[in-house]
Order: sequence, then C-alpha cells, then structure tokens
Amino acid sequence: MTMTINTDYFWMPFTANRQFKAQPRLVEHAKGMYYTSTDGRQILDGTAGLWCVNAGHAHPRITEAISKQAASLDFAPPFQMSHPLAFKAAEDLAAMAPDGLNRVFFCNSGSEAVDTALKMALAYHRMRGDSLRTRLIGRERGYHGVGFGGIAVGGIAGNRKHFGPTLPGVDHLRHPLDISKNAFSHGLPEHGAALADEFEQRLLALHDPTTIAALIIEPVQGSAGVILPPKGYLEKLRAVCDKYGILLIFDEVITGFGRLGTAFAADYFSIKPDMICCAKGLTNASVPMGAVIAKQEIYDTFMQAAPADSIEFYHGYTYSAHPLACAAAIASLSVYKDEKLFERATKLAPYFETAAHKLRRLPHVKDIRNLGLICGIELEPRPGKPIARAYEVFTQCFWQKNVLIRTTGDIIALSPPLIINEEQIDMLFASIADVLRTLD
Ligand SMILES: Cc1ncc(COP(=O)(O)O)c(C=O)c1O
Repeated sequence: MTMTINTDYFWMPFTANRQFKAQPRLVEHAKGMYYTSTDGRQILDGTAGLWCVNAGHAHPRITEAISKQAASLDFAPPFQMSHPLAFKAAEDLAAMAPDGLNRVFFCNSGSEAVDTALKMALAYHRMRGDSLRTRLIGRERGYHGVGFGGIAVGGIAGNRKHFGPTLPGVDHLRHPLDISKNAFSHGLPEHGAALADEFEQRLLALHDPTTIAALIIEPVQGSAGVILPPKGYLEKLRAVCDKYGILLIFDEVITGFGRLGTAFAADYFSIKPDMICCAKGLTNASVPMGAVIAKQEIYDTFMQAAPADSIEFYHGYTYSAHPLACAAAIASLSVYKDEKLFERATKLAPYFETAAHKLRRLPHVKDIRNLGLICGIELEPRPGKPIARAYEVFTQCFWQKNVLIRTTGDIIALSPPLIINEEQIDMLFASIADVLRTLD
C-alpha cells in the first residue's frame, strides 16, 4: 500500500461499508485492460470499470485532451454563456446518434440524463397543449439511476423502498426475463415478445393512453442482471408508442458507445426512440458527463412554444457541458471511430459468447445470457442466503484470480472494455469457472 488510509470518513455509495472497510479492495492505477491494486497486483478489468471505460483505461488521446483543456479553460458558466467545445461535443454526439436524434442536452451522469429526459417529455407534451399527459411508465427491474425521477420509473425494489413515495402517476411493465423458457439463450431470447402486449392491453387500458407522456426502458437491462429483450419485443413497444403518441425513451447509459457493437442499442435493434439517455462511455468515464439526445421535433417544439427572448427549458446544471467533460467526450468519440472499437466489439462478440456458454455445466449455474460484449451468469442462490454465493465469486476473483467482475444479486455481470482480446476473454471466464468449481 502506497499510503496509509483512514477509511472512516468516506461514506461509500452502493457499498456494504462495514464489510468493505474490514478488507478494502483498492486500486490506484489503470492502463488499458488492467487496474493495479494498492498491493501491486495487475487486475484484469472484466467490467470496464462500471460499464463505462469502453476504450480501455487512460487512453493517451483522452488524457491528453483533458489535461490540455484543464490548462486552457477550466470552466465556463453554462447558463446564458458557453464555450466552443460544448457545441463541438454536441455536434459529434449527434453525428454518432441515429438519424433525426440530433439535439443534445448535457448533464453530468446517467441519473441526471434520466431526470432530464423525463422532465423534457412532460414539458414537451405541455408545450404542445397536451397537458393531460403526465404519467410515466418504466419497467420492473429497470435501473434509471438514483434521482427521484429515476427511482420512480426504475423497478429495482431495493433502490425504492426507503424513499417513497416518489413521483405520482408512474406505473411499470413487467420485465421480460423468463428463465423457464429462455435459459442459456445465445443472444436474444426466443420467447416473451408477447409480454410487450401488456403495455397496451393492461397499462394503457388501465390509465388511458392519452394520459401517458413517456415510456422509458433500457433496451438491454444491465444493472438488474442482464435482461435481454425477447425477439420482436422492442418493435412492439415502439409500435404502441407510435399508435398513441407516447414518447419512447431509451436509457442507453450502459448500451451506448459500442457495448453491442453499434454506437447505440437503437442502431443494433434498428428501433428509433424519441430520446436517448447516455453517460458513462460518452467520455470513456474519464470525466463525469451525461446527455439526452432528443429528436429534433422535441427541440423545435420547445423553441416554438416560448417567446424568442425567453428561456425555453427551465432546467440545467452548473456543470452542464463542463469544458473538461466536453474535451473528454470529443476525444472519446473520435477514439471509438478511429480505432473502430464498435466494429471490434462486433467481431469479438461470437468468441465472447462461446467462452461464456462454456460455463453452462459448472456447479450453481442457472442461466447464462449474452449480447454483444455483455454477459450475465445467474447462479442458484445459497438457501436462505441470497447474494452470498455471487459475492464470494466476486471477492475470490479479485483476491485470488486478479480479475474484476461485477455481481448484482446472484448474477455475475460482465462488460469488458471493447479492447479486450481473446486471451483475456479466456482468462476472464476461466477465472470465474475455477472459482465456481471450488465454491459451495
Ligand atoms: C441504464 C442506466 N441508467 C442510469 C444509470 C445511472 O447512471 P449514473 O450512475 O451515472 O447516475 C445507470 C448506471 O449504471 C444505468 O445503468
């Protein structure tokens, strides 16, 4: 350890603080595919940090862009003022987004992107004179960050139960995970598209479609354990939104920037949402940044509804379009393009899939799910001790195998940087396999 640390003061997020502080897992450097732990080990990063370091750690072009920017313009006020890189970052992001989604609102995180998109949806309908549309629909086991809007539309019980009531007028679709029918699917599951029908038949019938402002979903549910949309499912949701004038928001905080081998999941599925929320890979996670990419008609509606000299959207953050974040985003997007990292993810995906499914017959493995460079390995929980088994896989991988994985509940979720190679993929899955073989 390079310095003595006192762990008393930092209240850690989404962490079992007392358990962690008894044996801290600390990293102090990162480069490419590896972290260096404070005890000097090279740790293979199987999670791209937290689904975010898609181009690998400390990419020289990104670090250089940030340090140059810090020396040249550290901050510019974002309200009634701006700086050139804000416009360039927005232009580059719009160029990468699906056609027609080309107006970019910057914030600092995925949570803020979600709350921004929800507010934008509500205000959009109001500005069109359709002020009855005040309801928002999310999905069970959806994760949309930790703002009050995000937890209201989110569907992870543990993230909501201490904080309610949240927003009124919110309802949820069921999630489409059905292991009884789809266990060990390679790629998209065959069964379950009919679950999308309940959007129209149950929720819209119950609430009246004219009261619904927006449906927000992750195209692939990440944080709750890699839940993939069954074939045909997303198409149905898009069609119902179109039929009733409901905005469809894709929360692409995880799926954005190459995770599925395309810039966005919207491209992968050829389904165009009305708004995309993104963050994480936008700056390769080097500086916090989030964004909502809205279709032009939404922006135009705001512009037309307000007098020319008035603020059209009463929303924004001190650090919206922060110069360091803009520099990092511009550099990251160009690294993704120049190094063809999304294409690389597409090429690696079959190898990753095969390596993942080799774990099928190992002890405790209940399901394996994969798409692009995402994989979920669901374990049978220990009787009466949910989470314990997967957590042990995580800690053993870290301490004994020098591999960083992530677990959520009893599910191992893998999402390596897109620069991973075949040997590293083998190492990642072999480490998990070794641990599973020895675990009770
Ligand atoms: C789909 C999705 N939305 C929103 C968020 C929240 O992002 P942040 O932690 O940057 O607020 C996350 C974070 O993992 C996410 O996966």
